[in-house]
Amino acid sequence: MPERVSVRVPATSANLGCAFDCAALALSLYLDLRVTPRADPDIKVTYRGVNPDRIPADESNLIASSIQKLLRRWGRERGFDLEIDNRIPVGVGLGSSAAAIVGSVAACHWLADRPLYDDELVSLATELEGHPDNVAAAWHGGFTVAIQEGEHVHAYSSPVPDLLHLVLVIPAYAVATEKARSVLPAQYSRADVVHNLQRAAALSAQLFSGKVDLHPGFFDDRLHQPYRGPLMPGLSEVLALKHPNLLGVCLSGAGPSILAFARSAPADVGEEICRILRENGVESHFSVLAPDNRGAKGWSVPA
Ligand code: HSE
Repeated sequence: MPERVSVRVPATSANLGCAFDCAALALSLYLDLRVTPRADPDIKVTYRGVNPDRIPADESNLIASSIQKLLRRWGRERGFDLEIDNRIPVGVGLGSSAAAIVGSVAACHWLADRPLYDDELVSLATELEGHPDNVAAAWHGGFTVAIQEGEHVHAYSSPVPDLLHLVLVIPAYAVATEKARSVLPAQYSRADVVHNLQRAAALSAQLFSGKVDLHPGFFDDRLHQPYRGPLMPGLSEVLALKHPNLLGVCLSGAGPSILAFARSAPADVGEEICRILRENGVESHFSVLAPDNRGAKGWSVPA
């Protein structure tokens, strides 16, 4: 066992409108973990960061319980001190639980000295999290497409030029992913599926070619955003926004955060989206971010 393990994991924004359950973009907003093995079997958790009211700081914490579960599975169970410093807003569609799980798996691979290939790590994190899109992007960084075949996940990633301005608008309420999935239909028309496939393929081709020649039509979606709108006041009005600097706008993951792509003057776009949400009774704030092209990173201090 090393003396200490540190891991940094980015936030992620899944779906990008059209690429529902297929792809996500990593953002320069981070979860930092530090795990120090203990001589006794106790688990101690300290939490610093956003939304402390939404995060338990005891053994029921998602990161603590994921680390414990994996160490037990690998026959290396032991106590540890877990320090969490989290800047990723929780429960708002920014991959906070995916970051927690990717961070836990990465920490365990160092703690248990167990090598994992990229796809093994992402598959294991998907098993714990339930969905592959955020975890694949949190591990690889950039724009990442994930394919699930049974319990195996294969991920393909491309860096995103940082001249693309990302505007993240975060409303002051949370929506559970299960709730936002419960409103989706079980079946779709062929026309709606083809509509999304065309855009997801074109958006992926652009981003994998290193281009930022985007336009709002790329992000248009018929598979999830129209059904989630009633849960998220102002969403349909924001998605209809026309602005000269706007290259695209979509729900971030299962929401309620909104991700916009701006050609220039990103703060103007952020203010405009916050204004529309306020008119619909929702308080929010925005941040202008760069993409994260590095993905999760870990450091181990030898004992
Ligand atoms: N793609 C998922 C959804 C969220 O939109 O429900 C992240 O896994």
